[in-house]
Amino acid sequence: MKKIKKIGILTSGGDCAGLNAVIFSVVNAATRFGWEVYGIHDGTDGLTNRPLSYEILTESNFSNSPWPRLSGSYLGSLNTGVKEDPEIIAKRFGEGVKELGLDAILVVGGDGSMNIVSNYCKMAGVKMIGIPKTIDNDTPLTEFSIGFNTACQACTNALDDLLLTARSHHRALILEVMGRDAGHLAIHAAVAGFADICLVPEIPYTLQGIINKLEEIKQSGRRHSLIVVSEGVKTENGEAVTDAVNMVGEKINGGIGEYLSKLINANYKGFQTRVTKLGHVQRSGNPTMFDRGLAVVLGSEAVRLLSEGHTDRMVALAGGKVTSFSLEEVVAAGTTGLDAHSPYVKAAHNIGMYIGEE
Ligand code: F6P
Repeated sequence: MKKIKKIGILTSGGDCAGLNAVIFSVVNAATRFGWEVYGIHDGTDGLTNRPLSYEILTESNFSNSPWPRLSGSYLGSLNTGVKEDPEIIAKRFGEGVKELGLDAILVVGGDGSMNIVSNYCKMAGVKMIGIPKTIDNDTPLTEFSIGFNTACQACTNALDDLLLTARSHHRALILEVMGRDAGHLAIHAAVAGFADICLVPEIPYTLQGIINKLEEIKQSGRRHSLIVVSEGVKTENGEAVTDAVNMVGEKINGGIGEYLSKLINANYKGFQTRVTKLGHVQRSGNPTMFDRGLAVVLGSEAVRLLSEGHTDRMVALAGGKVTSFSLEEVVAAGTTGLDAHSPYVKAAHNIGMYIGEE
């Protein structure tokens, strides 16, 4: 591979805490090799739109700022697909990379971005290394994606806060969390936040199962309860509760908390329910120490891989080790949902949490 002199970095997909820590890590590590780092604005848009939108990132202008400690993406991100023909976009993307003279591009993204951007790179002949991030933790082949831990903390904090008002008013409070079609965020938050019930898209549930659990709590003498539901959960019969779509026609999750609240209230008088839809605060908040560390580890590993001539791979944490997989393997693996036999699901069962019917 041609000797690297200049790399680009972009953040793609929904933002999350830890993206700026990755940028910090990449800029610092690349500077050690004498490379220039171009920060591309707004995901792939910075390279596919004209004029190109980017800025040169140096240790002094990026690291000497509060940004590495903050959430959001300093560079901006793009989380909707585009309607245009991928070949046309890939061509503009490739021309943009060429115009800037980038020898490779680092893409901080989730499963969707690994797929879409690696496809552009393949079509345009651009070298890429992926760095996994997402609050959904559904990027395949890595145990953890950057941003997941901070989102879990936000959900756990919300449960801690909700408990007090649930107790005052003797209510069953429902917390609807994000996660798209994966239940990782919901189950981690439910276990850490000591919830009584947790519903995830991967495990079917029944209204009767929920009511039985609430009645068991009532019979035990406790007069409040916490329920976590993942936004991707469907009705008992497997129907989506919303047909909402974004501006390019992709489905938007949300509303299952409100749906369940009404259903429980209509069928069970033991507890009154209320709903909190936590929303985008799950993507914000200062990155936890774990996410900062993971960002620095994976970001610097991506640079190391490039320095040794490896490309077209995604860095990952697997079996407690830092490693990497080919982008082909990553794309073929698709999206990783919650394994119904995972330690967290087992622990939830063991402590008597209702997490559906199996
Ligand atoms: O993928 C991250 C995520 O936050 C999902 O958990 C959620 O379903 C989605 O993005 C929300 O996207 P938007 O920011 O477009 O509302």
